[in-house]
Amino acid sequence: MKHYTRTQTLATMALVSFTLSAQPQLTADNVSEVIAAMTTEEKIDLLIGCGMAMGEEVKFPGTAGRTRDIPRLGIESAYLADGPHRLHMNRTRDWDSKTYITTELPSETNVAASFDMDAAYLLGQAIGAEVRDFGLDVLLAPGVNLMRSALCGRNNEYYSEDPVLAGKIAAGYINGIQSQGSGTCLKHFAINNQETNRNNNDSRLSQRALRELYLKNFEIAVKESNPWSIMTSYNRAQGLYTCENVDLTETILRDEWGWDGLVMSDWNAGKDAVASIKAGNDMLQPGQPRQREALLNAAKDGSLSMELIDRSVRRTLEFVLKCHTPNGYKYANETDLKGHAKLVRQLGAESMVLLKNEGAVLPLNKVNNIALYGCTSYDMVPAAMGFGGTNVGPYIVSFVEAVRNAGMKADMSLAKTYKQHIADENKKNYPEGRPVFSITAPLRAGEWVPTAEALTENVKNNDVAIITLGRTSGEGADRKREHFFLTDLEKSLIHTVAEAYHKAGKKVVVVLNVCGPIETAPIANEVDAILCAFEPGQECGNSVMDVLTGKVNPSGRLPMTWQVAFGDAPADHNFPADYEFDMSAFRRAFSGGSAKDAAERAQREAEKVEVKDVDYTLYEEDIYVGYRYFDTYQRPVSYPFGFGLSYTTFGYEIVSSAINGDECQLVVKVTNTGKTAGREVVQAYVKAPKGSIDKPAKELKAFGKTRELKPGESQTLALTWKTMDMASFNEKTSAWVLDKGVYQFMAAASSADVRATATRRVAKTRTEKVHNVMAPQQKIARIAMLKK
Ligand code: BGC
Repeated sequence: MKHYTRTQTLATMALVSFTLSAQPQLTADNVSEVIAAMTTEEKIDLLIGCGMAMGEEVKFPGTAGRTRDIPRLGIESAYLADGPHRLHMNRTRDWDSKTYITTELPSETNVAASFDMDAAYLLGQAIGAEVRDFGLDVLLAPGVNLMRSALCGRNNEYYSEDPVLAGKIAAGYINGIQSQGSGTCLKHFAINNQETNRNNNDSRLSQRALRELYLKNFEIAVKESNPWSIMTSYNRAQGLYTCENVDLTETILRDEWGWDGLVMSDWNAGKDAVASIKAGNDMLQPGQPRQREALLNAAKDGSLSMELIDRSVRRTLEFVLKCHTPNGYKYANETDLKGHAKLVRQLGAESMVLLKNEGAVLPLNKVNNIALYGCTSYDMVPAAMGFGGTNVGPYIVSFVEAVRNAGMKADMSLAKTYKQHIADENKKNYPEGRPVFSITAPLRAGEWVPTAEALTENVKNNDVAIITLGRTSGEGADRKREHFFLTDLEKSLIHTVAEAYHKAGKKVVVVLNVCGPIETAPIANEVDAILCAFEPGQECGNSVMDVLTGKVNPSGRLPMTWQVAFGDAPADHNFPADYEFDMSAFRRAFSGGSAKDAAERAQREAEKVEVKDVDYTLYEEDIYVGYRYFDTYQRPVSYPFGFGLSYTTFGYEIVSSAINGDECQLVVKVTNTGKTAGREVVQAYVKAPKGSIDKPAKELKAFGKTRELKPGESQTLALTWKTMDMASFNEKTSAWVLDKGVYQFMAAASSADVRATATRRVAKTRTEKVHNVMAPQQKIARIAMLKK
């Protein structure tokens, strides 16, 4: 053992304490100093997450992960948890007996259907408070990708087929969360519109579609709410992984849009860690040892410059500094569950879309006894499956319970039969127990059709029949063509029930508790009313009953076109609607894949075998997604974008319209012309003049929602947008071009129901040049159905 003299020991102690006190401790004022004090290893550590928070040793089990802490420099972790529908974390922890319950909110699709930025803000506020109350920092939400196809498995975690609606609702939600001091992570950036082969699929599209649709949603959200962070997506676009594409993250996002937050990868996305950091994708989540090694090697051999490393380190530190944890927030570990449940019930109801109401059968009148049909009536779908939601909120208010809450009676003999049928089906299909998170199965039990004998009895005992149809989906897999169409059993159920009740002079109502559009054409004429509930959250049954009984007048509008059949939309022809799902592709998302997966993939890559719609997807519909197609090409739909009935009627009058320099305005007076109080959504569409490129028949530029108007009452809404929002993207000049000419400003109740139009003239063409980046690597042909 080495012996030190007393003087030597004192000298060493002084040195140690000097070194310790010399360590800068991170504050907002000394970020540069802290970066200067960091070792290369520490910097690299900071750019890689700490793994998924799944084990028992973690602070918040069941959350998505955290950023690296470096105690020596006073750098704390930022704790990340999934949303958007629920703050995703385990209900229990091994080391205590407490339960950690968080609210299951309405799906993003519902929020968009409200067409109400204030509603989105309120929901954001609630979940933002939950994030803070449970000690977390950042919610990995919202998802804002466009609904390019009705079958994308994650559509219920997304808002709309329209970028303005999606961007603005996202902005409301983000502003709500960030008002609570909690952070957001806008995702999945970008052009991530299918789940099949989600880790490798290459989206190939025109620069016009990219700019006008698939980036526009993000651009609006970024500019109107400044999210703390953005998550790049799993897929490739124009050949490159989005997390490795400097044009996407630096040129467009930061340079053109002026945003300066933190970019993180999706969980285990991309391949090349060094390329990610070079691209300005600052953090790799949840982090893998191979990524750490690659970054360290590149830092050492100089192929990754310290300047770029420091750039991402700085962004990470600035992000962490905003969080609750480093600021020592003392969290309560409980939240206002009651208050949030009230909000969920209200917003769940307000976001429902009334698709049909023949003879004003709704709200239910003089009804006491209700016969509930359809397995979903007894097995409701509150939210998406996957990390964003997962059907494991505190509770789900069942339909039967809600009928009782409304002071009515549900036919319990039917309830008993259905429950038995569902249990039998589940046992047959899921002998190990039905999973809450399934990526392959639709999870609904096959339908049951009552016998003639049972039906006679039901009709005698009940005043009305309500049939609920359900569809679930979630991340990791797309829906298949067959999930869009009604099954024979579903059609037979509706036909049989409708015939029996109608014969007795009684009414039939269909409730759609679905993750996205399904076929309705074969049944629409057989029933009296159709209410689309989407996935309204934990108060499911109550929200539905509030609308059916008229406690809430429905004011939701479709955030997507409800097409007649799958195949009607041009994008359907470039979508993996029939692809047999390969489990290994999903596993790769989480583990980087088994050796067998990796070998298979490598072989396909070596042989350069590419499967259409799986390895790559051609966006041959270009900008003609949703109503931009159906409207322009005048094709029939079941229900148009923006459609939704009310229990009252509204009159529209354009008060004024103007183009004032950079701003446009359409002022609309809305009057409740019916007999029931209600809220109206006013949609402002613009038809641009024909210039050098083709234009869609109309495009949504703004929307507004009235307060609840009493019969006879009016409200004037001023809808505004930027003049350059009416420009189209010209690929030849890489510029936004606002053609001179006459613009039609339409005040509409849906994309197919224009109530009043004003015209305004743009005297001189205006252009705004942007970088000529992200061009497709191949020519993207136009799909045949786009030829007029
Ligand atoms: C999802 C993201 C999510 C992340 C972390 C990924 O599989 O695509 O949306 O935030 O996991 O759980």
